[in-house]
Parts: sequence; C-alpha cells; structure tokens
Amino acid sequence: MSSNPDEMTGTMKAIGFHEHGDIDQIELLDVPIPSIGDNDVLVNVKASSLNHQDLFAVRELDHYITEYPFWGGGDIAGVVEVVGDDVSDWSAGDRVVVNSRISCRECDLCLNGEQSMCRNLKVIGEHRRGGFAEYVDVPERNLHPLPDHVSFETAAAVPIAAGCAWRALMNRGDIRPPHDLLVVGATGGVGTYAIQIAKNVIGVETLYAITGSESKTERLQEMGVDHVINYNEEEFDRKIWELTDKTGVDAVFNTVGGDTWVKSMRCLRNGGKFITSGATAGPNPETEIRLIFMRQLEVFGSTSHSHSDFVDMLDHVWNGRIEPVIQETIRLSDYEVAFEKMANRGLYGKLILTQS
Ligand SMILES: NC(=O)c1ccc[n+]([C@@H]2O[C@H](COP(=O)([O-])OP(=O)(O)OC[C@H]3O[C@@H](n4cnc5c(N)ncnc54)[C@H](OP(=O)(O)O)[C@@H]3O)[C@@H](O)[C@H]2O)c1
Ligand SMILES: [Zn+2]
Repeated sequence: MSSNPDEMTGTMKAIGFHEHGDIDQIELLDVPIPSIGDNDVLVNVKASSLNHQDLFAVRELDHYITEYPFWGGGDIAGVVEVVGDDVSDWSAGDRVVVNSRISCRECDLCLNGEQSMCRNLKVIGEHRRGGFAEYVDVPERNLHPLPDHVSFETAAAVPIAAGCAWRALMNRGDIRPPHDLLVVGATGGVGTYAIQIAKNVIGVETLYAITGSESKTERLQEMGVDHVINYNEEEFDRKIWELTDKTGVDAVFNTVGGDTWVKSMRCLRNGGKFITSGATAGPNPETEIRLIFMRQLEVFGSTSHSHSDFVDMLDHVWNGRIEPVIQETIRLSDYEVAFEKMANRGLYGKLILTQS
C-alpha cells in the first residue's frame, strides 16, 4: 500500500461512456488512475451502489458532464490508498464512506448549514467522475469513517438514497407523529429508506405505499407498511380516499413524478404536505393548480442532504435502526446486468457493485 501520491501511477478499470445515449453506451474502460490534489484522498473502491441517477447520467446529463470518458457512481465505500500533502486526518488503510456532495463552504447557504443548496455545489458521479472504478479521488472533507462492524457493501448502499430520504422526511417535510404518510416510489433505493425512517425513526401513525407488483407488495408489508396499494390493480388516489374516510393523508413523499403527480396531490388532506425529490417517470407532468390552492397544500422540494442530515442519518444506519435493503451484489464487470435491472424496475432496494 502506498502513501505517496507520486507512487500511484498506471491504469485502472472503470465502467463509463464516451457519448450520451442509452445504457448500451456504457463499457469497460482502461483509464489512468486519478491524480490527487493536496487536500484530496485517493480511495481504493471496495463497493459502490447503483442509483437511478446513474441512468440519468448516461441518458441526459450532458449539460453537467464536461470530461469524457465519464463514469458515475456517487455511492462509494473503500479504503484510503494515498493522501495528499496537506491531509492530516486520514491515512492509508482507513476504512471510509464517501459523501458525494462537494459544497464550497463559503457561500451564504453553506455558511447557514444548507450545504445541499450550495451555490457552487459539485457532485461526485454527476459533475465529476465517480466510484464505478478501482480508484476515485475525493476531497478529504467528503470522507466519513466506516465503523469496523459495517461491511463495505452495506456502507455503499447508504449515502445518496438514505441521505435523500432523511432530509425529505426529517428536515424539509418535518414529518412527526401523529402524521400519516404515503410513499410513492417506495420500493426503490430512496423509497426503502423512506419506509424505514417513517416507521422506525419517526413512528408515523399510518404508513401507506404504492407499488406495481405483487412480490414488491409482500416485501413492503414485511417492512411494516400498513396499507400497500398495487397501482396496476386499482387507482391509488381513490383507494387512499377510501382508506382515510375521505379526509386524505397528512403527507406524501413522491420520487416518481409523471402520472403520479396529480394523483398524489389528490391523496392529501386540506393543508397536507407534498414532498418531491425525484421525477423517475417524467419531470413535466400535468398539474392541477386548483388542488394546491383549494386544499392549501404545502409543496416542498428536497434534494440530497446537508452535512448535519448526513451525519444524523449515518448514526441511525451504524446503530441498526435503519438497515439498508440490498437486493443483490454484482461484480463491476457485470455492469450490463446491473444497469438493465435498474432500467427495467427489477430491483427492490439497492444493487451493490464490487470489484471482485
Ligand atoms: N433529489 C435527490 O437528492 C435524489 C437522491 C436520490 C434519488 N433521487 C431521485 O429519486 C428517484 C428514485 O431514485 P432511486 O435511486 O431510489 O431509484 P430506483 O431504485 O430505480 O427506484 C425507483 C422506483 O420508482 C418506481 N417507479 C415508478 N414509476 C417508475 C418508472 N416509470 N420508472 C422506473 N421506476 C418507477 C419503481 O417502483 P415500483 O416498481 O414499485 O413502482 C422503482 O422501484 C429518481 O428519480 C432519482 O433521480 C433524488
Ligand atoms: Zn456553498
């Protein structure tokens, strides 16, 4: 193991693309090992995880990405290989998990503790190359220690999805008992964390979720969701109305958008909260403005996490109150299978990628 930046030269394997398009653009690449700056750390990636974001990166993030070939992967757990000259808090061999959000720490919003709203935010795996590779360069302040009892695979399942769900429910939505909650997008990476945060951390009064398949319905029930509605069998907004005696739920957390947008609003009680963090099924749905003002709904956008959201969330994972739901661990070299599963909705929870 090296601790001198100059010693790390040569090439590494990465999973990336030269041009945008669909997932068939992604290929196995042989690329130079990244060089690091004085305040950076080179991490030997032991595990990464797939996020829907990684599909968007190849399909449509051409306005973010400036370096090609590009490889994504914002969720990273690994071991410090080399540290930059000015890094004093980390040494070769440390086990780490990465916060992919690089905030400037200087703008008014950062100084206010709102790092997720940073005016100069850069994101590993979106604006700069990520962890779908053997090594990744990370600013030292974006590393967090990984406790010995947590595996690299478990840790890699956490940062982006759990950080998003945590901020949306705990911070932006401020959901608390006796609120009840409907989760739309419940079976995905973000959704399976939202279910656990709602159930195990907040203790919502009644938890509702929707999905399109029978097997996913059973798994949501096993996780403690009180009412699971299969949207392929019934209109979920009508069902919620019936289940709530025509009053509606206190809050909806929706990461899907598309044709779930207006239906989700219809599920809300007067004065209810609509929290949105994603648009998997489309960012430009028709809307119903009258629902927003007649029911006096509150609409909250929420993205990623602040530093304190992240630290609080990690604590709950390390102490076991939130348990990452990992469907499968696949070798990075089997990336085609991994990306296809995510694109075809074949996942429940997270898919992990490892080097071997
Ligand atoms: N703002 C943020 O900080 C942030 C962070 C992470 C993710 N996100 C966003 O949140 C969304 C979910 O991310 P994720 O990584 O959790 O994704 P994921 O694991 O692929 O989960 C997406 C879930 O949405 C449901 N879904 C409904 N309509 C869909 C459609 N047309 N296509 C695909 N899935 C559909 C699926 O569940 P069923 O099959 O049960 O319906 C699926 O399990 C994405 O839009 C992502 O970009 C935002
Ligand atoms: Zn900033």
